[in-house]
Amino acid sequence: MIELCKITWENFDECIQLELTEEQKGFLASNVYSLAQSYVALLNDELPAMTFAIYDDETMIGFVMIYHDTAEENEYGNEEAYGILRFMIDRKYQNKGFGTKALQKVLDYIRSFPQGEASAVYLSFAPENEAARHLYAKFGFQEIGIEDDEDEIVAKLIL
Ligand SMILES: CC(C)(COP(=O)(O)OP(=O)(O)OC[C@H]1O[C@@H](n2cnc3c(N)ncnc32)[C@H](O)[C@@H]1OP(=O)(O)O)[C@@H](O)C(=O)NCCC(=O)NCCS
Repeated sequence: MIELCKITWENFDECIQLELTEEQKGFLASNVYSLAQSYVALLNDELPAMTFAIYDDETMIGFVMIYHDTAEENEYGNEEAYGILRFMIDRKYQNKGFGTKALQKVLDYIRSFPQGEASAVYLSFAPENEAARHLYAKFGFQEIGIEDDEDEIVAKLIL
């Protein structure tokens, strides 16, 4: 069963050792960078992003980082929203259906509105990232444009 689990002192090392393929490494920041960003938010009295290790039963298979924006903070739209900033499945466990099941869990979690209400979810991915494009389209994410600074495709799901 797929579950989103808290990152603890026990599983932290394993989480930062999760790996992508060489080709995928350019698609997103490392897990250690993501966890460091969350810490910087804490130091600045912001709500830290929600970071989870993704498990299939006892095995850690991936990592996700989710954030919440107020309508004023949202740079893509003008509503209160969640964003999926990082989502990865370790290279050993890809193409087995885990990404699909894990994304379903992530969206269920977002729909529980852990940091406040929202009416949309935003994310972005590199145009050459066909696996991400395919996966997100399957869940109803609509491509709404290109991010100016990073040349990434921005996609939105209305909740
Ligand atoms: C994107 C990612 C999370 C998908 O995880 P996964 O466990 O392999 O996903 P699944 O096994 O559930 O497969 C999802 C679908 O993508 C398809 N897919 C996989 N690789 C593909 C590729 N290179 N091109 C097109 N489709 C691809 C699968 O065939 C499957 O399609 P289906 O559901 O219609 O059968 C994983 O590839 C990954 O971690 N990539 C690197 C990190 C990343 O890019 N994250 C997203 C941007 S933040």
